[in-house]
Amino acid sequence: MTDTLFDRQLDALLDTRDWVTNTAQMSAFLFNTLSDVNWVGFYLHRTPSVLSLGPFQGKPACNPIPFSKGVCGKAATMRQTQRVDDVHSFPGHIACDEASRAELVVPLVVGDTLWGVLDIDSPRPERFSVDDVELIERLCALFIERTDLI
Ligand code: SME
Repeated sequence: MTDTLFDRQLDALLDTRDWVTNTAQMSAFLFNTLSDVNWVGFYLHRTPSVLSLGPFQGKPACNPIPFSKGVCGKAATMRQTQRVDDVHSFPGHIACDEASRAELVVPLVVGDTLWGVLDIDSPRPERFSVDDVELIERLCALFIERTDLI
C-alpha cells in the first residue's frame, strides 16, 4: 500500500470500528478534500439487489437504487469499480443532481458479501483518472479493514 497523506489522514479519522461513524467521517473527508466533487456518499446493501442511501455529503439523493439501475447498480451487480467520464453517455444513469457529469463508484465487498458502494460525483466531465481509481479503491480497502461492517 502506498502511504500518501490521504491514507494517513483517513487512517487517523477511522478511529472507531463503528460503520455509521466511519462512513460519515469518510464521506465528509473525501467531500472536503477532493477537488471538483459535488456528492460523496455510501449506498448500503441491506435488501437483496437494492441499494439504500447511507451517510453522505451533498444534496439529498435518490433512494432506493435497484441493482438494475444507474452507475451504482452496475457497480453492485458487477462488483467492479465504475469510472464514468460523462454520465450523459451512460445508459440508465440516475440523475440525482443534474450538475453531476462524471462519476466513480467503488463496490465494498467483504468476503463473499457486497456490503454497499461508495459513490463520488463531479460536475466536471472526465474528472476521475485511473490514478484516482487506485487511490479511492485503496482508501475503500482501508475503510473495510478498519470497520465492523454489519
Ligand atoms: N448517479 C447515480 C445515483 C446516485 S447519485 O449520483 C448520488 C447512479 O447513476 O447510480
